[in-house]
Amino acid sequence: MQLALSTWQNIEQYLQTSTGIVIPIGSTEQHGPNGLIGTDTICPLAICKEMEQAGPILIAPAIAYGMSAHHMAFPGSITLKASTLMRVVDDVVTSLHRHGFTHFYFINGHGGNIAPVTSAFSELYAANHSGRPLRCKLANWWRNDAITTLAAELYGDAEGYHATVSEVALSFFAHPEAVQQVPVSPAVAPTAEFYDAADFRRKFPDGRIGSSPQLATPEAGQQFCQLAATALLADYQSFLHDA
Ligand code: NI
Repeated sequence: MQLALSTWQNIEQYLQTSTGIVIPIGSTEQHGPNGLIGTDTICPLAICKEMEQAGPILIAPAIAYGMSAHHMAFPGSITLKASTLMRVVDDVVTSLHRHGFTHFYFINGHGGNIAPVTSAFSELYAANHSGRPLRCKLANWWRNDAITTLAAELYGDAEGYHATVSEVALSFFAHPEAVQQVPVSPAVAPTAEFYDAADFRRKFPDGRIGSSPQLATPEAGQQFCQLAATALLADYQSFLHDA
């Protein structure tokens, strides 16, 4: 069930049965030579779609912008300041909490969001004087055993750290029409510490870190999507029982 495709009466009725909501969150940033700029939002959305088929969940519109300051030397990348992202999360949760929602399960596609979003959760808890519970969780789809095991089996170290093979594969599964076959060289991207956006582009000229996203296929993407949906649906259901 999609919040955006519901009426307010549908939501009033839903709240009689559940006060939980799933909120996809991603980014709009470069994902290497063959990865889509929307990858980090596309992946959580595809996983949500899969979860929706398996169980009755309510899905909020995605937060499609994230904290992507280190990608700003690549055209098309858009970043929110960390403080802006915290306020967006704060306003979304506060609005829904006012209507009776108590459990907010964010499915995240972007590592750069982790610090600001979890900081926003702490501020929300401190500011909640309503007497009603307010519980937030950030679930990073790529960080669970099922995903890391399959990625290691299929790609070994070439899974990488940014524009990873698994996320590019998942986005190709969700949007096969957008797949571009382009030369990717070297076969495995470098890895290094980096600092600001200019440093990032200097060290990782095509945008990848440590990955070989030319190995990505929609078929593997479907496997990642299904594994993530199964793991996250179980995690969401147990989160709903956290009073
Ligand atoms: Ni990504």
